[in-house]
Amino acid sequence: MKYDIKDPGLKEKGVLKTEWANMAMPVLNSIKKRFEKERPLDGLTLAACLHVTTETASLAITLNAGGAKVLLCASNPLSTQDEVAAALVTEYEIPVFAIKGEDDDTYYDHINAVIDEKPQITLDDGADLVSILHSKRQENLPNIIGGTEETTTGVIRLNSMANAGVLKYPIVAVNDASTKHFFDNRYGTGQSTIDGVVRATNRLIAGSVFVVCGYGWCGKGLAMRASGMGANVIVTEVDPLMALEAVMDGFRVMPILEAAELGDFFVTVTGDIHVINVECFDKMKEGAVVANSGHFNVELDLDGLENITKSKREIRDYVVEHSLKNGKRIYILGEGRLINLASAEGHPSAVMDMSFANQALCVEYIMKNHEDFDNKVFPVPKRIDNESARLKLESMGIIIDKLTKEQRKYLESWEMGT
Ligand code: ADE
Repeated sequence: MKYDIKDPGLKEKGVLKTEWANMAMPVLNSIKKRFEKERPLDGLTLAACLHVTTETASLAITLNAGGAKVLLCASNPLSTQDEVAAALVTEYEIPVFAIKGEDDDTYYDHINAVIDEKPQITLDDGADLVSILHSKRQENLPNIIGGTEETTTGVIRLNSMANAGVLKYPIVAVNDASTKHFFDNRYGTGQSTIDGVVRATNRLIAGSVFVVCGYGWCGKGLAMRASGMGANVIVTEVDPLMALEAVMDGFRVMPILEAAELGDFFVTVTGDIHVINVECFDKMKEGAVVANSGHFNVELDLDGLENITKSKREIRDYVVEHSLKNGKRIYILGEGRLINLASAEGHPSAVMDMSFANQALCVEYIMKNHEDFDNKVFPVPKRIDNESARLKLESMGIIIDKLTKEQRKYLESWEMGT
C-alpha cells in the first residue's frame, strides 16, 4: 500500500484519539452499521481531500465499511493530525498522503497521489482536488461520477466553475445542508476558533476588543462565543443585511480600517482575499493578535505585511511576532492558516458528526443517482438533511412533537382566518 505520512510509529495515540472522537459521533456510527450490512459502496474508489483529523478518520472508516476503497490527502498544509494519519494507515489500512506542515509542493504532490489511484467520487474541502482534476489532471475526469464539497469557500469556487461551464462532473454541496452549516459553521467554528486562539496565545479574552471580520455562519458563531467569554466584539462586513443582523445581535459594526486601531484580537472568517490589508496592519495597536479561520490564508495580506516588517521571530508555537517599521509589534497566528485546525483540533466531533453523516449519505446518493445528474452543483436532498437531524436528536434522547391531524389540515388550508 502506498502512503506518505510523518511517522507510522505515532499510531497508538492516533487510534486512542480516534476512538475518543468516535464516541461523540453516534449519527455517523449508525450509518456505519447500516453500511456494514448493505455495502452500498462496494467496488467504489473514493479520493478524499479533507482535514486529516480524528473526525475525518471516522468518516473514512465508515465509507470503508460501506465497501469503498478510500484514499485521503490533506485539504490544508497545517491541518493534519500526524498520529491520526498513522492510525489510518497502520490500523485501518486506509492510504493517507498528508504531513502536518508540508510545503506547498508536497501538498500538491499528495493531491496528485490520490488522483493516481483513479477515484470515481471525490470528497473535497475547499475544492483544491476538483481544481487540480480540472486543470493538470484532466485525463482522469472520465472516471469520475460525482463529488461532494464540505465548505463555503469550495462551494463558491465550484459554482464559479459551473457558471463558466467548465465543471465536468456533478457535485453535491454538503456545506449548504442545514444540518451542516447551522451547526458546524456556527457552533463548530465558534468554539474551535476560540480554542485555536487561546491554545496559541494563552491570552485572556475577557475584557479584550475582539474583531470578527465577516458575519456569515462562521462569523456569527465566533462573535457569539467571543462575547460569551467577555470580549467586547466588533464586527466588520460588506453585506448590508449581515451587518444589520450583527448590529441587532448587539455588536458594534464599523469599517475594518476603523476597527484596526481598536482591536486586541482580529479573526477573519470571510472567504475573501486581503480582508486585512497592509494599511490595517500598519494602524494596529502594539501587541495586536491576528488570525484567520476562513479556508485560505489569503484573507490576510501576508506579503504586504512582510513589506512593512523590520524583523520577525517565532515567539511561541504558532505565534510569529512582526516588529514593524512603525515601531509596533503585531502577532500572526498559525501562518494565517485556519487557526482552529492549525493550533487546535478543528471542530468538536459532535458537530462533525452531522457534517460527515451528510458526506457519507451523499456519497451513497451519488453512487445510486449519478446517471440522472448534470454537471452542476446540487443541494443535499431534504430527505438526507432531515435524516441527519432526526438521527442526531434520537442519539441525544430528545423527543419532539408531531403535527396533529388538525394542525396539518390548518397548515394546508387557506380559508381559516381570525
Ligand atoms: N473542519 C473543521 N473542523 C474539522 C474537523 N474536526 N475534522 C475535519 N474537518 C474539519
